[in-house]
Amino acid sequence: MFEAAVYKSRRKVLASKMNSGIILLPGNTEVGMNYHDNIYKFRQDSTFLYYFGLNLADFVAVIDVDSNESMLFADDLSMDDVVWTGPQPSVKELGASVGVSKTAPLSSLYKVIRDAESHGRSIHFVPAYRGDAKILINDLLGVAPSEQKSYASLELVHAIVSMRSSKEPREIEEIEKACAIGSEMHRTAMKMCKPGVKEQTIAGMLDGIALQGGGQVSFPTILSQHGETMHNPYHKGILTAGRLMLTDAGAETEMNYCSDFTRTIPVSGKYDSRQRDIYQAVLDCHNLVPTIAKPGVTWLSVHLAVSKLMTERLQDLGLMKGNVEDSVASGAHALFFPHGLGHMMGIDVHDMENLGQVHVGYDEVTRPIDQFGTNALRMGRNLEEGFVITDEPGCYFIPELVAQWKANETNAEYLNFDKIETFLDFGGVRIEDDVLITSDGCRFLGADRAPVEIDDIEAFMAK
Ligand code: GLY
Ligand code: MN
Ligand code: MN
Repeated sequence: MFEAAVYKSRRKVLASKMNSGIILLPGNTEVGMNYHDNIYKFRQDSTFLYYFGLNLADFVAVIDVDSNESMLFADDLSMDDVVWTGPQPSVKELGASVGVSKTAPLSSLYKVIRDAESHGRSIHFVPAYRGDAKILINDLLGVAPSEQKSYASLELVHAIVSMRSSKEPREIEEIEKACAIGSEMHRTAMKMCKPGVKEQTIAGMLDGIALQGGGQVSFPTILSQHGETMHNPYHKGILTAGRLMLTDAGAETEMNYCSDFTRTIPVSGKYDSRQRDIYQAVLDCHNLVPTIAKPGVTWLSVHLAVSKLMTERLQDLGLMKGNVEDSVASGAHALFFPHGLGHMMGIDVHDMENLGQVHVGYDEVTRPIDQFGTNALRMGRNLEEGFVITDEPGCYFIPELVAQWKANETNAEYLNFDKIETFLDFGGVRIEDDVLITSDGCRFLGADRAPVEIDDIEAFMAK
């Protein structure tokens, strides 16, 4: 946790950005996996963490915008709880540790909400993503879960996004720690990657490294020879010489700041010539980002510059053809690169995604583009100092997609389907690092990034 003054100051700024009313901010509850008491590892809500810091279940916060007063509602542990889970400071002490002097049992929350309603005050909340929070909002405000998105406060969403987007130096320090754990995960994957090893053996080891770091994985580890499946959650394969292993994995620190890295390495320890060609094309795209990303440049324009370079490289390899600008405008590259170049990262790996991606990644000037591929770009707007964003181009050969585009002659004037069909057994390559936008450019985060250049990966794996 940061010191109390950090949270106090953030809440004051938040209140100053709102017109009037109260803000209702439910923290997360414990969730049973298969019965009530057999629980998933607890994960606090990130907005609650940002403003209240307490990494404990069953807290609800209220900020009175007009008086700039914060309140925390939670129940002290009973002796029965203490017997099973051990002691914990009182709610009053926990409140004091984050600069909140007004605390009360959860049951008092209802009266506070009734009072606000009876005075006709606005009650602001953000869209809930968990069942318990949806039920709480329903109980307190009478808004059915199916209607909560449209009743959520856009004013509050915009205020939160305006504060969480640029990371404070203390947050960058935490993200650097998450990067160090993430780097260790990827180095371990490179050491363990050999023909005959089960994907699950490596994936389990990586998850263990994240847990050893004090937090957990920042999202379910992707580790597969089927890199062409974007969020492949299965690790059932056995590594085979000649294949590529794609690992997309990261960690959270104890304070839940994230890292998110991808490396794609040859199971045999050396890339064959086809793998080398595709890998180098993706690496060139990845390395283009730090040369152009800086404040004042839209991330959408960086995504499109990468798409253009990818098109040029794939033309050099005989996979694409035609006028490059027209090809990018038509979205032909999305056959190979069907996702966005990157997303904001912070206390969430896809930072603030629960607030609504259009509010996080876009603004009145830069609007989402509804074209296959670019429609998966979670972030498009102008970059600002302090943004942390992932740089993750990829090139994939998805047999089902190739077959559909060929049958429909989609973008046929830009694609050499005969050549593409010789790559249907290839899989995919993605390379991902985390980037901090600085005052005049950007830099990769993580002092000791896992090897990424072809020679460095091969040398590391040969050790
Ligand atoms: N780990 C999912 C992503 O890279 O966005
Ligand atoms: Mn990733
Ligand atoms: Mn990512």
